[in-house]
Amino acid sequence: MTFTPEQLQDAAKQHLWMHFTRMSTYNNADVPVIVRGSGPYVYDDKGKRYLDGLAGLFVSMVGHGRTELAEAAAKQASELAYFPLWSYAHPTAVELAARLAELAPGDLNKVFFTTSGSEAVESAWKLAKAYFKRIGEPTRYKVLSREYAYHGTSMGALAVTGLSSIKHDFEPLPAGGIRVPNTNIYRAPDFAADWSEEQFGVWAADEIERAILREDAESVAAVYLEPVQNSGGCFTPPAGYFQRVREICDKYGVLLVSDEVICAFGRLGYYFGSTRYNYQPDIITFAKGVTSGYSPLGGMIVRDQLMEPFQTGTATFLHGITFAGHPVSAAVALANLDIFEGDNLLGNVRANEDGFRAALDKLSDLPIVGNIRGAGYFYGIELVKDKATKETFDDDESERLLRGFLSHALFEAGLVCRADDRGDPVIQLAPPLICTQEHFDEIEQILRSVLTEAWSRV
Ligand SMILES: Cc1ncc(COP(=O)(O)O)c(C=O)c1O
Repeated sequence: MTFTPEQLQDAAKQHLWMHFTRMSTYNNADVPVIVRGSGPYVYDDKGKRYLDGLAGLFVSMVGHGRTELAEAAAKQASELAYFPLWSYAHPTAVELAARLAELAPGDLNKVFFTTSGSEAVESAWKLAKAYFKRIGEPTRYKVLSREYAYHGTSMGALAVTGLSSIKHDFEPLPAGGIRVPNTNIYRAPDFAADWSEEQFGVWAADEIERAILREDAESVAAVYLEPVQNSGGCFTPPAGYFQRVREICDKYGVLLVSDEVICAFGRLGYYFGSTRYNYQPDIITFAKGVTSGYSPLGGMIVRDQLMEPFQTGTATFLHGITFAGHPVSAAVALANLDIFEGDNLLGNVRANEDGFRAALDKLSDLPIVGNIRGAGYFYGIELVKDKATKETFDDDESERLLRGFLSHALFEAGLVCRADDRGDPVIQLAPPLICTQEHFDEIEQILRSVLTEAWSRV
């Protein structure tokens, strides 16, 4: 059965529950329906083209319509569509695990697959707890993470997430999620207003130490940090921040989890964000870009020592997910990594990231643009009411501006990106890694005209 566009609208409104979506928005408006993609563009059911400035949801690294990946999936499905990783292996999962271990920094050599980022985050927490029990430190269970940081939505991952606004409906959550400051230097506390970026970074890292001591070091299992924090709008790490965090983790025996669900696989010009910022995590969590979204996959890559207690006698990590490391997804991931190599995507990001930044920096002349921050192909543009004082929009203004106007207007103007007010209002950009200057210029032009219009409505 093929639906007409009208039937699709009706059925979507009656049956499809969209995620993180205010469904009432579509009581009197069409649900946007995206039907196909090609390179960095996607097309809706009426044939209109949009530049995918968010790579779907930080996912489509190699762009849309890559038939090699579709073929890899078809080939694997016809050979072996499914078999579990529960007590068995299959070749694509083995090859992918070996390839990821090779790419990951240091002795991160053991790969535990999941199907999503939330499951990866939650698996890392379960591993940390089980590991510490096995090595005789059973009191360690708490996890630190940063204010506003998004680490997923399943109950455990939500407890790690630092956005209280998306947690209230689901409380009580698993105990032990503790917040520490993020590295938003643009909104540094008053006492740090005159500090250099390095000083600010030392302070933010030392806040992790203070939290560990406050909570009792022997109760803390892990600290979760993204290389560049997405939620809140691309907070980059000040120089030295991660090195200081690593020292603190070593001092107190706390595991450093680098949540790279967004930042791995080229987003920052490297396979892993931790490589760009030169720190050694104990666990890397990944998902999204590993397959460029042609099939779902996630996982964690862990240091050898974290698996050791589970490698003798009857010891077992009592955790598993039916579809984790799915043969088709693993085959797609391998083909995806082949494209990374063949098309030199990391090189493309490194060669063009300054051009992306320069295109966005042009928007600084707009009165509504307060701060532009990010790295690689990953940027946030913070919107303000007053550039000089950095005054932000109140809740009503934010509601009218972001939800009432910007989200829709940017899409209408042909740009998929995200207008987010879970922290201060930001526009988030993370285009496919194949993008070049012409796409950055297109992004800049659309943002310029829509933000100019937005300002006239403030
Ligand atoms: C840093 C980070 N961790 C975890 C997640 C959760 O991933 P998923 O939506 O695949 O469960 C996300 C999703 O955006 C993320 O950005």
